[in-house]
Amino acid sequence: MIDSPAFSRLGFGVTGPHASIIGSNTKTRELVHACVAHGVTLFDTGPAYGVGRAETRLGEALREVPRDKVFVCTKAGVHAGGFRDFSPGAVEMSLKDSLERLKTDHVDLLLLHGPAPEELTDKLIRHLEAFKVRGMIRHLGICGRGPELEAAARISAMDAVMAPLNSELTTQEIERLENCKKAGQSIIGIEVMKGAAKSARIPLNASSAWYFARHIKQVALGRTAPPSGRSPQEALSWALDHPLSDSVISLTTSLTHLDANARLAGLEGSASSA
Ligand SMILES: NC(=O)c1ccc[n+]([C@@H]2O[C@H](COP(=O)([O-])OP(=O)(O)OC[C@H]3O[C@@H](n4cnc5c(N)ncnc54)[C@H](OP(=O)(O)O)[C@@H]3O)[C@@H](O)[C@H]2O)c1
Repeated sequence: MIDSPAFSRLGFGVTGPHASIIGSNTKTRELVHACVAHGVTLFDTGPAYGVGRAETRLGEALREVPRDKVFVCTKAGVHAGGFRDFSPGAVEMSLKDSLERLKTDHVDLLLLHGPAPEELTDKLIRHLEAFKVRGMIRHLGICGRGPELEAAARISAMDAVMAPLNSELTTQEIERLENCKKAGQSIIGIEVMKGAAKSARIPLNASSAWYFARHIKQVALGRTAPPSGRSPQEALSWALDHPLSDSVISLTTSLTHLDANARLAGLEGSASSA
C-alpha cells in the first residue's frame, strides 16, 4: 500500500502526445506545472514511450519543482527501444537510464510493464527489493490487464498495481483487482475514459494530429473502443469514486480538461492559467 502525501487521487500521464516528436517540451512543461498547482502530483511515464522522450520531458518539466512534492512513477521491462526483457540485469539498466532521463536519484514507484506471470521470477523480485534498500525506488508494482495481476496479488513485495478501471470491466477483471486490494496493494486506474473521450479529431495542432494518427492506427488494427454512452466527466467520476480506486491516471493535452478533471477529483489548487 502506498502512503505518501504526493500520491494524489488524480495522476497525470506523460505518454502518448507528450512522448511524441510532434509534441513539445514547452507544452508538456506547461501542463505539468499546472498539475502541480492543482495538487495533481502523481506523474506516470515510462521508458517505452517515445524511446525515452516522455521521461526526458517529464524530468525537464519537474526541474524546478521540489522533489518531495511530487510522486514519480515509471516502468521497466519494456525498454526504450520497445523490446521486452524482464531479466534482473535488463531491468536494472532500464531503471538507471530512467533515473538519468528523469534527473532524479529515485522513483517513487517502479512498475513492471505488463510482465507474463512466468517472467516474475524470485530472482527478479529479490533484485527489485534490493533497489528499494539502495533507495533507488520507494515502491514496487505491476502495470497490467491480465493474469499478471493474479500473480501480483501473490507477491508480497508489490505495493501497487496499475490497471484499466472503467465500466467495461468483466467480473473476472474486477475480481483480480479485488484480490490485489485484499493483498494490501494500492490500485491505480487507467483507461478510465475508454469509449468516452473523443478518439477521432481533425488534426488542427500537434496534439490533435497525434490523436488523429492514433485513431487511424486503431481503425486499421480493429481496436477502436465502442462508445460507452458516458461523457468523459462521468467516466472519470465513475473511476474516482470506485471503491477499488486509490488513484486514477488521466492523460490530457488541454489545460481546460486538466482543470475540469482536477475539480472532479476534489483537488482545490488553482491553475488559472487554464
Ligand atoms: N492505456 C494504456 O495502455 C496505458 C498503459 C499504461 C499506463 N497508462 C497510463 O494511463 C494514462 C492515461 O492513458 P489512457 O489510455 O488511460 O487515457 P485516458 O486518460 O483514459 O484518456 C485520455 C483521453 O481523454 C481525453 N480527456 C481527458 N480529460 C478530458 C476531459 N475532461 N474532457 C474530454 N476529454 C478528456 C484526452 O484528450 P485531451 O488531450 O483533448 O484532453 C485523451 O484523448 C497514460 O498517460 C499512462 O500514464 C496507460
